[in-house]
Amino acid sequence: MHELIEHGALRGLLHEARLRPRSGPLEILDVGSGTGKWAIWVAAAYNDAEVTTIDLLPITAVELQEYPNLHPKSPVDFTRDRWADLRVDSFDLVRLALLCGCVPDWPRLLSTAFKYLLPGVGQIELVEIDHTPRSAPEPFPIQSLVFVQWWEYLKEASNRAGLPMEYREDTERLLEDAGFVDISRKRIRCPYVGHPDDKHDQDTADWLANAVRSFEGDDERGVRDENMNAFVALSMFHFTTQFGWSEQLVKRLCNDVLQTTRPQTTCPREYPLYHYM
Ligand SMILES: C[S@@+](CC[C@H](N)C(=O)[O-])C[C@H]1O[C@@H](n2cnc3c(N)ncnc32)[C@H](O)[C@@H]1O
Repeated sequence: MHELIEHGALRGLLHEARLRPRSGPLEILDVGSGTGKWAIWVAAAYNDAEVTTIDLLPITAVELQEYPNLHPKSPVDFTRDRWADLRVDSFDLVRLALLCGCVPDWPRLLSTAFKYLLPGVGQIELVEIDHTPRSAPEPFPIQSLVFVQWWEYLKEASNRAGLPMEYREDTERLLEDAGFVDISRKRIRCPYVGHPDDKHDQDTADWLANAVRSFEGDDERGVRDENMNAFVALSMFHFTTQFGWSEQLVKRLCNDVLQTTRPQTTCPREYPLYHYM
């Protein structure tokens, strides 16, 4: 997923926000940092900045002593109004990435993030995959209808659970309501099959394919599970708890979805499925 974001969407940049130098080290905060990969890259790239991460879980991808400017904090619940002992009014950049499906209340989260930014200077950067399957031209190819159906199920189950997976189309308004100004949005098309004449489009398609299939690999015990993929990871909890479906059924459905994303299911040049990021 990181390749898709940093290489595909940001074309090699770690972030789009232009950080303004100031006296003292820049303060950067990664909210819901996951493995900590992005924060580690940033800590390595800006060794004169202080990089903090918060998450429910500890970050896993690092020898901490190698990065004295990296400060992981866990468990910290970002749905709370205060984030551990972090100082309000202090961060130059707050980043929130891939949090759709983890946030019960976006207005509240954005208001809290606003509080932690350096007044008049701090910037927020949101990066999300919009999981809505899209097709151009419409209508969806008949062999992809299971993908559309899966998404409808996931929206329903995640809404019932109070953790909507759907990207909020009104994000700009939510940011404004939270106090942000100078808001811009970039929408990037991530196709399942890239255009043959466009190398970047093709690379983006490869990164997306890797991201959705990355769960097909070995698990932590080195056991290969061909029935695992990103669709299973996104839906297993919700479908079993909200609909009472068996694990086997969820895996079968998700495997059918995965098949529809493979270019060989139709003519590659005309394969129309994509997402937005
Ligand atoms: C899909 S991952 C995204 C990780 C990372 N931002 C990235 O771009 O790869 C979502 C992360 O949010 C964390 N998370 C979910 N709910 C949270 C909460 N209430 N407070 C803090 N972290 C939370 C999860 O532990 C997980 O690491």
